[in-house]
Amino acid sequence: MEHTCPSSLDGEADGEHCRKDKGGGLSNLPIRNRNGVRAINANETPTIRLAHLSDVHVTTRGCRWQRSDWLSKRLAAWINLRFLGRGHRFRGATAVLAALMKELRQQRPDAIVFSGDATALGFEEEIKHAAELFGLHLEDRLPGVAVPGNHDYCTTVAINGAFERHFASWQSGVRLDEEIYPFAQRVGELWLIAVNSATPNRWAWDASGGVGAEQLERLRRLLKHLDGGPRVLVTHYPICLASGHAERRTHGLRDLHDVVRVAAEGGIGLWLHGHRHQHYRHRQTSWTPFPVVCAGSSTQQGIWSYSEYTIRNRHLHGVRRIYDHGSKQFRVAETFDLTLL
Ligand SMILES: [Fe+2]
Ligand SMILES: [Fe+2]
Repeated sequence: MEHTCPSSLDGEADGEHCRKDKGGGLSNLPIRNRNGVRAINANETPTIRLAHLSDVHVTTRGCRWQRSDWLSKRLAAWINLRFLGRGHRFRGATAVLAALMKELRQQRPDAIVFSGDATALGFEEEIKHAAELFGLHLEDRLPGVAVPGNHDYCTTVAINGAFERHFASWQSGVRLDEEIYPFAQRVGELWLIAVNSATPNRWAWDASGGVGAEQLERLRRLLKHLDGGPRVLVTHYPICLASGHAERRTHGLRDLHDVVRVAAEGGIGLWLHGHRHQHYRHRQTSWTPFPVVCAGSSTQQGIWSYSEYTIRNRHLHGVRRIYDHGSKQFRVAETFDLTLL
């Protein structure tokens, strides 16, 4: 059975005028349709602006440990955080994410795409803290789509719906069988299709993920069901590395080839992901005809960045903005262009 949330974004242009952009992306007075997407006039294809963030890895005090945590992957993740440098690399995460969201609240993108790893250890206290930093508790929160990363599903106990509860406002859309994943959110002419690729893993060295046969079957049906417009898949896990080579087995998507096949058959035109903390992108890969973009970490010391995508008529203009520690603001690092299939 198909289930559409009340905040599902299907709609036609209703001509509501938006405020003038403070971020400088579109300087003339555009028309907004019901989805908040801008069109210069009613006859033109609307321009869609997305902000892609990932791997913010925030943590907080007061996380409640349970006895089972000491025999789980959470212990290894904590040792990594506390003693092996991860905590040091993400020591500015809260402040950098606050600066990023301040910038985005001024720029007002049509949607934020968050591709997972909100937390360090997957505690509910961390998830709640991350959601608040994203402003999801505010009435005027920004629209968006979010999927969990492997750190958010650190243990079997961590998969208690905490991520989905705290990120619920970024998980509205069209879904099947009343299951949370996958779901598809309409943003103008575009479909953002969110797939959960994170799974808890037993062993400390295993950071692999999987979509699973049941979710994959729902994805296949969902893609068949959606109407026209470019389709953008959002997962935590990548297709390949920056080099173009495959991820190693203990760090990649276990059912990658099945997911890629369903995505290609279902008309996916772009794959957005995180997991790897350096930004990279490919116009196509050895496995796919469509482009892929890894957002990289938005908060890791020194490589903290996010990407803005302006999409119109299947042309994507990207601007990667990097955090400047001195000014405590983000600045343009590079621009790039891609064509969606
Ligand atoms: Fe990460
Ligand atoms: Fe990850």
